[in-house]
Amino acid sequence: MSSLIKTDTEDFTDWWQHTVFYQIYPRSFKDSNGDGIGDLQGITSKLDYIAETGITAIWLSPIFKSPMVDFGYDISDYMQIQPEYGTMKNFDDLVDAAYGLGIRVILDFVPNHTSDQHDWFKKSAAKVSGYEDFYVWHDGKVDKAGKRQPPNNWQSVFYGSAWEWHEGRQQFYLHQFTKEQPDLNFRNPLVVRAMDDIMLYWLNKGVAGFRIDAVNHLFESEKLEDEPLSGKSQDPLSYDYSKHIYTKDLPEVLDMIQHWRRLLDEFSAKNPNGPTRIMMTEAYAGLTQLADYYEDAKGVHGSHLPFNFNFITDVNGDSDARDFVYNVEKWLIYMPRGGHVANWVMGNHDNPRVASRFGPDSVDAMNMLLMTLPGVAVTYNGEELGMEDYRDISWADTVDPPAKNAGELKYKEVSRDPERTPFQWNNEANAGFSTASKTWLPVHPNYTKLNVEAQKAAVKSHYKVYQQLLQLRKSAILRRGRFIIEPLSRFVFAFKRCLEDFDSIVTVINVSDKEQLVNLTEFINNARKLVVEVAGINSIYEPGQPLPASALSLAPHEGLVCKLV
Ligand code: NOJ
Repeated sequence: MSSLIKTDTEDFTDWWQHTVFYQIYPRSFKDSNGDGIGDLQGITSKLDYIAETGITAIWLSPIFKSPMVDFGYDISDYMQIQPEYGTMKNFDDLVDAAYGLGIRVILDFVPNHTSDQHDWFKKSAAKVSGYEDFYVWHDGKVDKAGKRQPPNNWQSVFYGSAWEWHEGRQQFYLHQFTKEQPDLNFRNPLVVRAMDDIMLYWLNKGVAGFRIDAVNHLFESEKLEDEPLSGKSQDPLSYDYSKHIYTKDLPEVLDMIQHWRRLLDEFSAKNPNGPTRIMMTEAYAGLTQLADYYEDAKGVHGSHLPFNFNFITDVNGDSDARDFVYNVEKWLIYMPRGGHVANWVMGNHDNPRVASRFGPDSVDAMNMLLMTLPGVAVTYNGEELGMEDYRDISWADTVDPPAKNAGELKYKEVSRDPERTPFQWNNEANAGFSTASKTWLPVHPNYTKLNVEAQKAAVKSHYKVYQQLLQLRKSAILRRGRFIIEPLSRFVFAFKRCLEDFDSIVTVINVSDKEQLVNLTEFINNARKLVVEVAGINSIYEPGQPLPASALSLAPHEGLVCKLV
């Protein structure tokens, strides 16, 4: 890459404030023992790749003991490693090796629910003293025919009633996800304490923090009122059928987030040799709520990084430049002032991949957007290559619980399997992911061409663009530069990062499928020259090339990162 941009050698920010968090889905990343399932030793063997890419923090989807009904989001022991993934020694080795390469490790913490195989649930079902109220139990109602029915109309996110009858305890229990994922009762102080102990256990093992799963589902109304209908679905068993005003986003959620923030801050203060321990929270919630997660009206701090899913939920391949600008601005407007940092999540294991949401031609532009905006960037593994969803997974190979609940006719509409297929390392069998005869999910057939090895060997590739962007992120301008964004036309938007007395970086993106001609002179507002810093793989422009700011032609879906000289 060209060396027009100075690297920022001063440490202006705390480690997490400008990091790229790279999400690893362990089951699909790299299989070291040939059973068709990714594992910890597999991840350790690929840490060099992660470091070479320029990543300094990884977050791992759950690696704890689990019956794998929801692929690790159903935990049966929070302090043990899932045997398919390896041993505690393998985990310790992974953390040591990662830290040796300057990579921090974040774990996925799943507090809302356990597996029904967790000891706590078995004890609670048997009413063992101290565990009676670990979960949310209820007698339900008796209908006219004398049959027991759930206490209300609450639905599970994954379809069907959120209540399941337990023969042993002769009561219903609440589950907001699968019936094998009973909801913990966070109104019980014993539960809160047990979860604190788990966090401290992993912090003492050297992790740099947690991604907290489904945090806005932690509390439900104690009155168990029926939820009002949304009018969005006619199917009473669908999650869209009602408005989740009694099961989601309750005010108590914020108290719990703030409680965990205190725990992390105290741990960091007592263990000053390590980094600031942080939390990232997963909640598909409203902007005002997420802003409060950062810091509430009283100034109490909560989540370091309430995930910003706007690029997943609020824009897509049909969005125009104004939609993008609006979505970027709205996060920055709502984020409280005073030291908070923005974050941008471009993908995860629950949503279609970038190439499938925006189209394969948009991969470079979307990575440019992600990497040159102010704050933290979150990349899902494979997005650096432009991996695509494998939408043709057969019903027989389908394993995702909501897809199985949807049935053979509708599973493709909701399945998360397509974005979870094995990572594509090379063009050998199973894309170099595994030596097994069958992998847990099929490999995308495009692996013969789309893989790490091929992209490293090519002169131009999505991977190389991604690497250049990560290198550029080290610059003072991208770490600290002020930010201005504008739609230049209906289809092209641009944003500028500038530091006083420094040069500026300008990112310009055409979101349409047609060539666009734009005039950038007013936006860059000075007489300096525009020079390409990073261009996409199909671009006619090369790094270092001067551009005509008054009449810049952009190919369909083209993005360019430029510098003003
Ligand atoms: C969010 C996770 O990302 C998803 O994969 C999981 O199914 C649910 N929470 C339930 O834990």
